[in-house]
Parts: sequence; structure tokens; C-alpha cells
Amino acid sequence: MSATLFDQVEALMAEIGKAQPSSADELEQFRIRFLGSKNILKPLFGEIKQIEPARKKEYGQLVNRAKEEAEAKYAEWQAVFAREKRQSAYAGMDLTAPGEPRPLGSRHPVSLVMQEMIAIFGRIGFSVADDREIEDDWHNFTAMNTPEDHPARDMQDTFYVVDAPGMLLRTHTSSVQARVMTSRKPPIRIIAPGRVYRNETISARSHCQFHQIEGLYIDEGVSFADLKQTLLHFVREFYGKDRKIRLRPSYFPFTEPSAEMDVYMGLETEKDRRITKGTGWLEVLGCGMVDPAVLHNCGIDPERYTGYAFGIGIERTAMLRYNIEDIRLMFENDIRFLRQFDAVV
Ligand code: DAH
Repeated sequence: MSATLFDQVEALMAEIGKAQPSSADELEQFRIRFLGSKNILKPLFGEIKQIEPARKKEYGQLVNRAKEEAEAKYAEWQAVFAREKRQSAYAGMDLTAPGEPRPLGSRHPVSLVMQEMIAIFGRIGFSVADDREIEDDWHNFTAMNTPEDHPARDMQDTFYVVDAPGMLLRTHTSSVQARVMTSRKPPIRIIAPGRVYRNETISARSHCQFHQIEGLYIDEGVSFADLKQTLLHFVREFYGKDRKIRLRPSYFPFTEPSAEMDVYMGLETEKDRRITKGTGWLEVLGCGMVDPAVLHNCGIDPERYTGYAFGIGIERTAMLRYNIEDIRLMFENDIRFLRQFDAVV
């Protein structure tokens, strides 16, 4: 009896050894026969009770080996068929053909100018302050010394949020000045780049949305001379190292004194003559000493601290730098327009 059981296992081992499945289906048959839940080796394990005690160990080892060989065989052929399947997926393909180029995006001209300005001011210690575009009346106007009946509110046609009294789309990044001053203690040295909104008729020259960079520096003993020197440094980094600037007296509610800054572009080219209206001077930003009333509104002691601020329009700057004639191009996302900035990093 026990001799036949040994013979049966030996015969199955020989079958396992010779097996050469020619397809994944045949391999599956092999798996079911030797490794499936009702496999042929299973009952043979049970038959160990029939074996005479002296040979039980030998028998048990033999059946185990049969099972191990079936497992090894199965793994080996499974790898073979998996490889064949992968290879057939490439059949007829030219694996040496160059890949399809992936189109790379490019930076928007507004971002290019903004990033450059952030870098210039970053190198002299200004950090970026980011804040909300949907703002309240207080931060956008009142804190910035522009109360309800102030005529300067008419200078900036405001979008108000429907059904949210006192809420608006910020008309300038100056609102971030109020946000920063009410939440931090001097010294404060920030720039605030971001989008602003005004209810203006859209044309080649103006849009209802655009970008600004606000600058704010507050500490003890900050003077107009500091403002001038900082702006001159900015201009020489951004427009070229021999540039001259001039400051013309102006008016903003939140600064006193206030000024507009011009950069000397010269009159050499037709473009210079056109953009400077024949004067050689180009207006690039508004600035001034932070009005003591603004410091007071925001909880900073105007007896102890002084500061300067400035605001730069981004779109106009980008239009001049890249010879863009129509501001509307900035917001249309026409791929033919955007692709022109591929090479600019
Ligand atoms: N907020 C002004 C505007 O939108 C620009 C400006 C002018 C900002 C003077 C300033 C400043 O910080 O000092 O037209």
C-alpha cells in the first residue's frame, strides 16, 4: 500500500518536472491541478496516516517537495507569459523613435514683471505680504484716510459686493498697508503684489482688473530721503543702471507729502518719444510719506514712527517692457500671445 502512495507522488513529480505549458491558459490548468483549492496533492497529504511509522517522515517530505516544485514551476512560467504579454504590446513599435515633445507653459508677462520686482525688493529686505482681494470699506478706504464723503473715492470707481454691505473688491493694494499695520509692529518692510479692480470701461488702455505692487516701510526715523534712495535703487535695477528719476509733487489721501515718480527714458527712439509724449520722462509710480492719520488709524504711534509707501502698476510696466499695445491681451489668455513669452524666464 505505502509503496503505491510513494509511486503516485513520484509520478506526479515527474509530471510537474516535464510540464511545459504553451499558453497562459495551459499554465492556469497546471495551477488548478497542482496548486488550486482542490489540487491533486491535497489528498495525498492526508494519506500519511496509511504509511508505516518508520517511513512517515520520508513520505511527508516527498509530498512537500512535490508541492514546492509545482510552486516553483508555476512562478517560472508565469514570469515567461507576463514577459511575452509585455513584449506583444510593443510589437510593431519603433522603440528608437524620438518622444512626442511635451509643450511647456510659459510665464505670463504680468508674472514676469511681478517676480522681477519681488526679487529686486527682496534683495534689500522687503518681504512679500499677501492679502485678500474682497476687502472691507475700512481697510480699502477709511483706514487709508479716505472717509465716506471724501472726493478721492470718486477717483477709483469701486465694485461693491451685492448683499454684503461695506464689502468691495479692493481698488488698490494700499488696503494691504492697513492689513499689515493693524497686525504687526514696526519695523515693517513689505511689498504687496496683487490684483485690484475698478469699475472702468474696458479699452486698449484700461481694464476693470489689473495688478499693483505696494511698498511700505515703517520704522523710527524713516525719511523722504530713504524713499528717494530706495526708488532710485529700484529703477536702476529694473530699468537700467544709468537711469535718472524725478519726483513731482502730487496728491494721495494716504501720503503727505505725496509724489509721482518719473523715470528718464530719453528721446532717442520713436518709442521713447511716443511713451513719454515727447518729454523723455515716463511716470512709473505714486509714492509718499505715510500720512500720520493712517498710522494713527492703524494703531501705530505717529509720534514715534514714520514711514514711506509707494504703488506701482504692473500691466503698464509689462506693456512698455514687452511692447504690448493693448491691455486686454493680458486677460484673454490667447495661446498665441502667451507663447511669445516662452523664452523669457
Ligand atoms: N494706491 C494708489 C493707486 O492705486 C497708488 C499709490 C500711490 C500707492 C501712492 C501708494 C502711494 O502706496 O504712496 O493709485
